Amino acid sequence: MTVESQRDIDGILKVGRVVARVRDAMLNAIEPGMTTAELDQLGGKMLDHYGAKSAPKVTYNFPGYTCISINEQAAHGIPGARVIQAGDIVNVDVSAELDGYFADTGGTIVVPPVARVKARLCHATQLALTRALAEAKADAPIHRIGKAIQRTAKAHGFKVIRNLAGHGVGRSLHEEPEAIVGYFEPRDKRRLRLGQVIAIEPFLSTLSTQVAEADDGWTLVGHPANLSAQYEHTVIVTRGAPIVATLSEARN
Ligand code: CO
Ligand code: CO
Repeated sequence: MTVESQRDIDGILKVGRVVARVRDAMLNAIEPGMTTAELDQLGGKMLDHYGAKSAPKVTYNFPGYTCISINEQAAHGIPGARVIQAGDIVNVDVSAELDGYFADTGGTIVVPPVARVKARLCHATQLALTRALAEAKADAPIHRIGKAIQRTAKAHGFKVIRNLAGHGVGRSLHEEPEAIVGYFEPRDKRRLRLGQVIAIEPFLSTLSTQVAEADDGWTLVGHPANLSAQYEHTVIVTRGAPIVATLSEARN
């Protein structure tokens, strides 16, 4: 969507704050021995507390409140009986609807002991998001976002998962502009518009450039030995730095 009033801006910021809080609470709660279903219950209870609804549930009938993806799983992992282990790299993706507005966010952590490659993967992916955010300005080509992500991945010796992408958000979970990819696509001539609400979400990986749907019909996985990280923010495009709706509380 494109925000057209202060009410629109406030609506996006409000749902953005909710999903950011849920994301951070879930990432902080992760412990070895916990199942992903238990972690998801925490997210579901918090969304309920704020009067928000899980966006994947209401939009796609996803079997969980949040997506939790571990190690070889890149995205859309279904919460369930999987037990979180020491050393796992865990991604939590939280999106929700509140008062008709949608926001989408995600983050990744490593359960100690933290292998060096996993720490570097998280660091590089966070940096890719920061650099992509800096390219998200009114009238700028959308392809600059992917260029920044790809360049950051390459500089750190990582790959980009090419069939996972950012997207427009705001009035629904996924809307125009679709396919804000994580690599340079010069044929993409689209430009960002003032007030546009988009989710930017780089996926960096150690091996895989493509992921495929698992037998459960949801989880997206790469090579069995692949590791990936994702960080995602919902932002409102301005002429300068974008307004990030899903910042962590401590940085607000
Ligand atoms: Co997301
Ligand atoms: Co998203």
